[in-house]
Amino acid sequence: MYEQIDQIIREAGKIVLGAHHISDSVREKTSRCDLVTEYDTMVQDFLYRELLAAFPEAGFYGEEGDVLEIAEKRGYFIVDPIDGTTNFIRRARHSSINVGYCLNGQMEYGAVYQPYTDELFTARRGCGAFLNGCPIHMNNLSLDESIVMYGSAIYYRQTIPLTAQLMVELLPSVLDFRRSGTAGLDLCYVAAGRADAFFECCLRPWDYAAASLIIQEAGGIVTALDGSPLRFIDRCSVAVGSPLSHPELIKLVRQVLQRPDMKGRLP
Ligand code: IPD
Repeated sequence: MYEQIDQIIREAGKIVLGAHHISDSVREKTSRCDLVTEYDTMVQDFLYRELLAAFPEAGFYGEEGDVLEIAEKRGYFIVDPIDGTTNFIRRARHSSINVGYCLNGQMEYGAVYQPYTDELFTARRGCGAFLNGCPIHMNNLSLDESIVMYGSAIYYRQTIPLTAQLMVELLPSVLDFRRSGTAGLDLCYVAAGRADAFFECCLRPWDYAAASLIIQEAGGIVTALDGSPLRFIDRCSVAVGSPLSHPELIKLVRQVLQRPDMKGRLP
């Protein structure tokens, strides 16, 4: 089953690589910061068709609006056809296609494909995490040794003060920050030891579901920012760290969340 998913996601990458006149196909979704192109729809249509042809029993939950009976399904795909759409529009060559398979409420398989570098990050529950078939492992560093990737949750304006405050509190306690614009790849970079931790105040499951399993299988911990379990339906904040740094990160976040002006800002 999983090899077939890998083949399908690599095929979908060809649509991204062949994209032209991207700026002509851009439109706003929920705001001027939340953009979509005809290629997002094209890639999702391809994945929908191919994944469900191969696995007709599965449901499908995709960023561009396709939800297929997931409530009644034991297993369903969680799909972001182009994670890092703004990067894609600006031709930054840093976007991914994310495909996760959720079975009985748990991630069973995750694949995140970066077509521009031909890097396929994968993980199957209990079997380890891989980059193009080679095992990957997270660094087990404390927070003060960690490069922290983060997302600005820019579509969810109520989270801006919390993101800003977390940056103020965290920056003196870490090695440095990185912001790439593609959450799925951020998590995979952490899994591969290119960075060490991650936070974002609000994401949707297609941004993190596939990569959350890759983090766990690479030896990391992933939860919501308050330390509660991740949710794979609707919105959730995300915190990633090593066994050393994750408790430190959650402790610091909880301190910030106790401030009266930060209450109610997490989804
Ligand atoms: C976005 C990217 C970005 C993150 C946003 C996401 P999209 O995904 O992952 O890094 O900060 O919150 O929504 O919209 O380009 O698929």
